[in-house]
Amino acid sequence: MDSAKLTLNGKEYDLPVLVGSEQEVAIDITQLRAQTGAITLDDGYGNTGSCKSAITFIDGDKGILRYRGYPIEELANKSSFIEVAYLLIYGELPTVDQLDQFKHDLTHHSLLPEDMKKMFEGFTSSAHPMGVLSSMVASLSTFYPETDYKQEANLNIIRLISKIKTIAAFSYKKSLGQPYIYPRNDLSYTGDLLHMMFAVPSEKYDFSPVIEDALDKLLILHADHEQNCSTSTVRMAGSSHANVYATISAGVGALWGPLHGGANQEVIEMLELIANDNMDYKKYISQAKDKNSGFKLMGFGHRVYKNFDPRAQILKGASDRVLHELGINDPLLEVAKNLERVALEDPYFIERKLYPNVDFYSGIIYKALGIPTNMFTVMFAIGRLPGWLAHWKELRDNPALRINRPRQVYTGHTRRVYTPVENR
Ligand code: ACO
Repeated sequence: MDSAKLTLNGKEYDLPVLVGSEQEVAIDITQLRAQTGAITLDDGYGNTGSCKSAITFIDGDKGILRYRGYPIEELANKSSFIEVAYLLIYGELPTVDQLDQFKHDLTHHSLLPEDMKKMFEGFTSSAHPMGVLSSMVASLSTFYPETDYKQEANLNIIRLISKIKTIAAFSYKKSLGQPYIYPRNDLSYTGDLLHMMFAVPSEKYDFSPVIEDALDKLLILHADHEQNCSTSTVRMAGSSHANVYATISAGVGALWGPLHGGANQEVIEMLELIANDNMDYKKYISQAKDKNSGFKLMGFGHRVYKNFDPRAQILKGASDRVLHELGINDPLLEVAKNLERVALEDPYFIERKLYPNVDFYSGIIYKALGIPTNMFTVMFAIGRLPGWLAHWKELRDNPALRINRPRQVYTGHTRRVYTPVENR
């Protein structure tokens, strides 16, 4: 199979066909407009390959997710978030020396410029941490102006992964009105994040390894998901050669939306709503099926996974374990299980292939770990950062990079004659 035939206005065109390493077939339309004058239309990009990428493979029907060829199940069980970050960005699992160096670099770039503290002061204490995060990530560009991509890319990658957890923790402390807790060099990446969020100056903070492991696993599961909304935003912004901080800040903004990363906060709010309404989950299933209600079952459905979300499967088991080990009996888990059971038996959800996605169970684990609801999407952003950076690097390292600039089918007015305001 090496070409596809297109007939337009009676004329036949040959379009090249590409086959990816997992046998995915794509019709290359790069020359379509030049050859035919026509463009393609694909609202929401459900059928459009926006780039070639060697980072993550998903088979939505089979529930497969692999980073650089490694199954997510193996990485979640055997690896660490930092190792996965290295794998995503540089393409190979690190050797012992490479991992030590990476950890060392990440540890030694975790401080924020002290002037940034004044910027945190400028936010109201009710500021949503995602708003603070996107502003602060963009503001790093004023402290570390990018002058030469090739020279500075690696240092900026380290700075971002290292500093994002300090920014996240500071924004949380700011919302509590508590003093900022500075990073500690003797802790793991995830341990340091927990320390900066939950320690207070007067007390030694000991967190359980169960919490550290669970959070690390969550970060791994969120680390990349090929051309999702926020990653495509990162690629779009990065294609203009915007600096990496502005580019990643754009991704944070896209992730915030409730149809994307913001869903994890919405899931918990929905489960709380149901729990406080006599646990009447059937009422909410009916509402979700009624298009006029405007209500959706948050944490259900996915653009790509139409059978099961492998990340949700891992998290379902993990949430049981974490709650058991921490001795937490959360009624929200019962609501979640009831919703899942009924939804999976209901023809509405079966016909539309709506299954629990990663956000359905991640919120329950975040809650058990003591992470406040409005920080859930920030946790997702910390996890997704290596993926964004891997895609940004792949994009910028491509010598054939062109600015991303889609076309449109214009459906507005044709030429009209302007009428002065007094005559309208
Ligand atoms: N509850 C009820 N009905 C739903 C839901 C839901 N959660 N999701 C989709 N549907 C229905 C749609 O109304 C549509 O019905 P129709 O065919 O009768 O019109 C059908 O299922 C197909 O849904 P689409 O919206 O076309 O699917 P799309 O791929 O565009 O959207 C999305 C995927 C955004 C994830 C959607 O399922 C949704 O809004 N889910 C809830 C939000 C959520 O959990 N987001 C997190 C996604 S995972 C992530 O970003 C990490």
